[in-house]
Parts: sequence; structure tokens; C-alpha cells
Amino acid sequence: EILQQQDGRLLSTFRLAAILPTVYHCYSSADLAEVPLSPTPRVHGEGSNTVFIGGDLPALCRYLASEKTLTWLDDDRAELHVEAGHNWHQLVQWTVTQGLWGLENLALIPGSVGASPVQNIGAYGVELADRCRYVDFYHWQSQQLERMTVEQCRFGYRDSVFKREMAGRGVIVAVGLELTKQPRRVLSYHGLDQLAADCSLEQVFQQVVAIRQAKLPDPAVIANCGSFFKNPLLTDAEAQALLQRYPFMPVFPQGNGYSKVPAAWLIDQAGFKGKQVGDVGCYHKQPLVLVNYGQGQPADLLTLIEQIQHQVHSRFAVALEPEVQLVGMPLAQPVREDL
Ligand code: EPU
Repeated sequence: EILQQQDGRLLSTFRLAAILPTVYHCYSSADLAEVPLSPTPRVHGEGSNTVFIGGDLPALCRYLASEKTLTWLDDDRAELHVEAGHNWHQLVQWTVTQGLWGLENLALIPGSVGASPVQNIGAYGVELADRCRYVDFYHWQSQQLERMTVEQCRFGYRDSVFKREMAGRGVIVAVGLELTKQPRRVLSYHGLDQLAADCSLEQVFQQVVAIRQAKLPDPAVIANCGSFFKNPLLTDAEAQALLQRYPFMPVFPQGNGYSKVPAAWLIDQAGFKGKQVGDVGCYHKQPLVLVNYGQGQPADLLTLIEQIQHQVHSRFAVALEPEVQLVGMPLAQPVREDL
């Protein structure tokens, strides 16, 4: 199915005004084989991590099939094969009703199953990589499906091969997840540590939902794309030097010579909490989330991003890198390695 002149506000949860020239809706490899490839369309899920800045916007391809199949590997472990178009949170909810552990810490993350491996979604001590067995990838050029192992996906913090070498090469059509009937509690993250050591699956799920609802704006109510920047990784030495000057700065050593510093804290200290440029603002309960109160313009967003990056850099000498994908801004996009 080919749709023309689509309203970008319905295709990105940041909801800036934009017109998408062409959107292809596909449900099978046969559909994908019919999509014109020059230029290659941008693969798109639900738009919960994509902002259309305007200018010359690309054609989009959406893979909307959403079946799921559960296969038992042994008495406890099951493999769940889910097609890319399935909504992520609805999947998490379903696994909880089935008594299957594994995805409950990832409740309420907006977006589709197909998007989940791209930035290796993560929250409350669990990331997709921990539960993923494979990703089924359709190659534009060969028109073949390839089952990629977790190792081949090269997952990292908000990173994967799909953002790098495989960017623009094809479409994630399904994800394979490993779940278990045996409790697999991850309660180390602040906020979950108050749960009982023998708490139920439902309790973990409800607690994650409650924490997120208390801090993060619901994209259906206030337009946003979740965390706008990645948490910067500093060397342990850099983090220690900053700690000398800012003894209250939270630091999370990663055990590999690097420490994560919360971008939310840096942005908060730089005074941006609740600040607005036009109708775009830094959310007052969680400053890592930028929001569009309704009439936000691309220029407002770009100005706010620039101000935040500039202030955080001049104060802490830390570079903040957007986590959200900004589309339609050729000069600011990272240079593709394969071009
Ligand atoms: N903080 C402040 N001021 C605030 C809020 C937070 O200084 O107003 C500091 C606190 O020190 C707090 C720290 O920031 O301890 C971290 O905050 P939080 O636990 O909320 O997590 P985060 O680092 O801001 C990350 C992910 C979220 C994920 C949560 C929970 C990134 C970029 N973001 O946020 O993911 O849900 O942890 O695991 O890694 C997303 O990617 O869209 C997203 C929401």
C-alpha cells in the first residue's frame, strides 16, 4: 500500500508539523520486494524516537505485520517470535498475563517491536540485548531474509549494528525473545529495590509502570520522544575530576574504565528544567525529556538542543549526543560510514 502526503504529526510522537511525501505499508517480504529503492526509503516504526525537522523528507517504509508465536525450548524457557509491527508495550503486557518473565522492566516504552533492537531499548536494569535471541532482517539489495544472532547485532548502550553498518540496508521484520516461567527478578534499579525479594511478575510490571508514569510525560498527552540525549560516558578519570568540583554529581562506574553520568543531572544543573523556547520545552519532572506543548516549531527545538549542548559543555566540558533521530537535517546527520 502506498500513501502520499502523510501528516508528520501522526508519524512522530514529537508531533512537529511536516509532510511525508510517500509512505509504504508492507506486511510481507513480497510487499518489501515491490518498494522502489532509489532513493532507499527510511524504515519507520511508530515514530517514538524520530523527529521530522522538515526540509526534504525521505519516503518511509513501515513493516506492519504483527503476529507472535511462542515455542517452548524446555520446561521453563520459551522463545517468542514477534513480527516488527507489534506494539512493544502491548507485547510486554501480554507476556505478563502469560506469566512469562523477561520483559517486565521494559514496560511502557513507546514504539514498535521492530524498532526495539535498533537502539537496544533499555530501562530499569534490563535492555533488549539481555532478552534477544535473534533479529530477522530483510536485505533491500538481495531481497533475502537473514536471521542475525545477538552477537551479530553488536548491541551496545542505545546502539546496535542497525544504527551503523546495516543502516539503510534493509528492514527488521521480526525479533526473537527468550522468556521464562521461572522468576528472573531484576530489582537493582532505584525504585524497584523497595519491592520484596519474592515479589510477583505483576508487581514488578506495575512498579515500573508507576515509576514511569510519575516522571515521564505520556506522549499521547504531551508530545515527546522520551530521553532526548544519551547519558554521556566519561573515562573514570574525567568523572573523578568532575566529582572534585561537583561532589554531589551522581556517577555510575561501568566497570570497564568508563563511568556514566546522568544527562538529566547535567541539564538540571545547567538550569534548563522547565525552560521553553517557543512551545518546545525541557520537561519539569525529567529534564532529559524534551516536549512539544502543541505548536512547537523545528527552529525552537533546534535552538533548545543547541542551548542545552552549549551550556552543558561550557560548564562541565561534556558533549551531549542526541539519542532521538532527527530527520530532514542533512548537515547535522552523522556521516554514514558506508557511503
Ligand atoms: N536526575 C536529576 N534531575 C532530575 C531527574 C533525574 O538530576 O530531575 C538525575 C538523578 O541523579 C537520577 C539520574 O538523573 O538518578 C537518572 O535518572 P533516571 O533514573 O530517571 O534515568 P535516566 O538516566 O534519566 C535512563 C534512560 C531511560 C530509562 C531510565 C530508567 C537513557 C538516555 N535514558 O534515563 O530511557 O527509562 O534510565 O532505566 O539512557 C529513553 O531512552 O527514552 C528512556 C526514557
